[in-house]
Amino acid sequence: MKVVICDNYEKMSEYAARIVASCVTLKPNCVLGLATGSTPIGTYNELVRLYQNEELDFSSVKTFNLDEYFPIEPTNSQSYRYFMNKNLFDRINIPIENTFVPNGATSEARAECENYEEKIKEYGGIDLQILGIGQNGHIGFNEPGDELIAATHLTELDESTINANSRFFKSREDVPDKALTMGMATILRARRIIVLANGKEKRNAVRALTDDRISAKIPATMLKLHKDVTLICDKEAYGDRD
Ligand code: PGA
Repeated sequence: MKVVICDNYEKMSEYAARIVASCVTLKPNCVLGLATGSTPIGTYNELVRLYQNEELDFSSVKTFNLDEYFPIEPTNSQSYRYFMNKNLFDRINIPIENTFVPNGATSEARAECENYEEKIKEYGGIDLQILGIGQNGHIGFNEPGDELIAATHLTELDESTINANSRFFKSREDVPDKALTMGMATILRARRIIVLANGKEKRNAVRALTDDRISAKIPATMLKLHKDVTLICDKEAYGDRD
């Protein structure tokens, strides 16, 4: 795994955006895997800036998001579809029909997950996957456990994830306790992966990602099985090391 340690969140975001931008430039019809949460917002802002400077064209890009709460309507301001429209899609020239987020309002979760997997394959697979990392080491909503699920699936959220995400909701009780998420194999099939992490809350997860362990109890450690992963973190997340 390549590790890039940036001075701060802004530098981390610029570095990540440059990688995404080069992917879009070299392959204008590329398929991007996208993440939500507070971590990638700076990267999305930087991509919007590059688009506004006429340095990037998203008109042929396709995107697949990692996950979505369940159940939730796409119009709910806490949904990840809403987040993506607001933070990226509505601000660049990507046709909205080229953007895919699991449908958290479906009554057929299993079929939705199967269709999502199929759709990714149909579009040729993910060229570049952007990941954040949970304080508990989750990626997407693949939560720590004795085992992990390979394909896109409906999952229960970990207590620690509900607590961490409650900052975006009026109260902890409002956080959905389930989600649809790409599975571990879905993520590992991406041709290239970048993992972003900032802030000291992510230090334990980053340490696990950069040592020699692989464990379902820290799902992000599975990324060590992939041959093209770049961790882009700030100094706070990396911590002091000898
Ligand atoms: P965050 O979430 O970017 O809001 O810290 C990351 C994650 O839970 O994957």
